[in-house]
Amino acid sequence: MKSDTDIILITGGSGFIGKYITKFFIKRNFFVINYDINPIKNFTSPNYKFIKGDVAKIKNLRKAFKKKIKYVFHLAAINGTKNFYDFPVKVLEASSFGILNVCKLCEEFKVKKLFIFSSSEVYNESKIIPTNEKIEIKIPDITNPRFSYAGGKILSELVGLNYALEKRIKSVVIIRPHNVYGADMGFGHVIPELYKKISLKKLKKNIKLKIIGSGNEIRSFIYIEDFLNGFYKVFRKGKNRNIYNIGNNEPINIRKLISIFARILNIKISISGKNGHLGGPKKRVPDITKIKKFGYKKKYNIYNGIKKFIENEKIN
Ligand SMILES: NC(=O)c1ccc[n+]([C@@H]2O[C@H](COP(=O)([O-])OP(=O)(O)OC[C@H]3O[C@@H](n4cnc5c(N)ncnc54)[C@H](O)[C@@H]3O)[C@@H](O)[C@H]2O)c1
Repeated sequence: MKSDTDIILITGGSGFIGKYITKFFIKRNFFVINYDINPIKNFTSPNYKFIKGDVAKIKNLRKAFKKKIKYVFHLAAINGTKNFYDFPVKVLEASSFGILNVCKLCEEFKVKKLFIFSSSEVYNESKIIPTNEKIEIKIPDITNPRFSYAGGKILSELVGLNYALEKRIKSVVIIRPHNVYGADMGFGHVIPELYKKISLKKLKKNIKLKIIGSGNEIRSFIYIEDFLNGFYKVFRKGKNRNIYNIGNNEPINIRKLISIFARILNIKISISGKNGHLGGPKKRVPDITKIKKFGYKKKYNIYNGIKKFIENEKIN
């Protein structure tokens, strides 16, 4: 590593977004330390170091902070809707101890800028669509374990923003990703799950698909390459104690999404639905005016994004 190379510590750098971010920043001549429970499989680089560990354990996390770190990207979190219902305490431990430990160490090691990855889940079901960053965030039912995740994200934002307010960390920026997709993201998300179900039918010409929910739920999905470009804009231009939605403002319902798969794969798909998870929002679309002001422009519409996803996704 050259002496003037900037060092980034990424927590959760082995996950879906983390892997892409790690490689993206290494390509741009940063040195990346990835602190995660699991390593990135089959990846090495002279500008990369993996340290195994849990963000909830400060003694171990401190080992990752030894070097002169300029930026921290805090991504480590337990994701996947099923986990929110099955292991809410684990989800909360990772987010609450995680953010407190990360902020404490950013203060101690005088990190220049901390980027906290929150989530669109903090809006729950907003009445105002598209939803901008100033609109209230909420937990509508404290007894529903689904909100272990959103609750942990709200806490993370609170802790980070107040560390910055008290000037204990120089600069803290909040990112709220909205339904990012791309190859190699695991199968616990809408797009890969649909694709896997379709692929398991061995691409017959007419297939029947069972989905969770009615199919009328509206989301807006952002392709990983667009997400990285949006994040890079925020990395370069994001201001202290500011929040940035990163997503796509092209809403689509799940039925339409399935019809795009059908069009690309040249097959017919008929669907039947079952009830969705309790507490899942019916519609979510971000207002992305703030990142557009930084010069962000999407490259992929949903059709081209799904096409690229199918080209790159390997299903065993
Ligand atoms: N993918 C999306 O569409 C999306 C949407 C909104 C928010 N986010 C947020 O962006 C971040 C990255 O998301 P992702 O899709 O890459 O998630 P992911 O689940 O693929 O990756 C999370 C990573 O964190 C690690 N991790 C979990 N608990 C940990 C702990 N206690 N200590 C250390 N590492 C731990 C996991 O091993 C994994 O590698 C997360 O904070 C997520 O909540 C993602």
